[in-house]
Amino acid sequence: MSMPDRTNPVRLPAWRTVVYEVALNGWRILRETVNDFSLWRIIEYPWATRALELQRGDLVLDVGSGTSSFPHMLAKEGVDVVVLELDAERVRWQLAKRRETAHPGDGRFFPLVASATQMPLRDGSVARIAAVSSLEHIPDDAAAGREIGRVLAHGGIAALTLPYTSSERREFFAGIRRFVQVELNAFVQEGKPGSFFRFYTDEDLQRVYVRPWQLAMGGVCGFGRSFLNWRYHETRLTRYWRRFVLKDLLLALIVHPLEERFDRSDPLYVMFTLRKR
Ligand SMILES: C[S@@+](CC[C@H](N)C(=O)[O-])C[C@H]1O[C@@H](n2cnc3c(N)ncnc32)[C@H](O)[C@@H]1O
Repeated sequence: MSMPDRTNPVRLPAWRTVVYEVALNGWRILRETVNDFSLWRIIEYPWATRALELQRGDLVLDVGSGTSSFPHMLAKEGVDVVVLELDAERVRWQLAKRRETAHPGDGRFFPLVASATQMPLRDGSVARIAAVSSLEHIPDDAAAGREIGRVLAHGGIAALTLPYTSSERREFFAGIRRFVQVELNAFVQEGKPGSFFRFYTDEDLQRVYVRPWQLAMGGVCGFGRSFLNWRYHETRLTRYWRRFVLKDLLLALIVHPLEERFDRSDPLYVMFTLRKR
């Protein structure tokens, strides 16, 4: 049996995520994004693609895909994707988008309406898992953490991005949108009962995602510190969040690396890999 050639990794640079997003959702997204594609995703998708050490023909389980373009971007790079999402309507949206935009040579696309807390997948059956800004919305995150460790293959990699605090966050979007605190570091947006959202401390990350399967955590990095978060995102400037997507490309390429190099304040999100030995 020949070993897979892992010398030609798939790369998804920030600029290419924008090009793909335009190809998938039209030019209008440069003026106003239609889904969650904006600054954070322009940082997260290139990171996750690199962290997963992908080759064409690999298969990625994308947990909590929503209506995001990430699975399509991977498919365009020749990667097969399982789109696992709780909301059947969003999975239908994903399939329709796939039918509209598929080309020969793209990776395959497997829709799966299921909960991350109970995945209909065999133990150790998935070598690459991505969960981009999705697990923080799951109240029973301990079950999701156990499931990720269970389905991850030995030698496999999971790439996770999650909201972060080193101790406690009391206010979130203060004065912009009202979030009601429901547990320590967990919030629900007022008037939106299903909008659960939590921040993780280092101990939470260990307890929920690392310890249950003794996974090895690596490649930890962050985004959204003083400038991109406290002076931009969690202020009234957030009204520009979905507007003028090219500004986000500049912020991701210029401000984000500077912040990560020089700013030691808490990031809004952490990104890390989990490996099963
Ligand atoms: C912020 S959104 C999508 C983020 C997406 N990964 C991206 O790249 O933009 C989070 C998604 O997680 C889904 N979700 C919530 N609970 C879930 C669960 N238990 N299992 C699977 N998906 C879930 C929601 O329906 C929602 O579509």
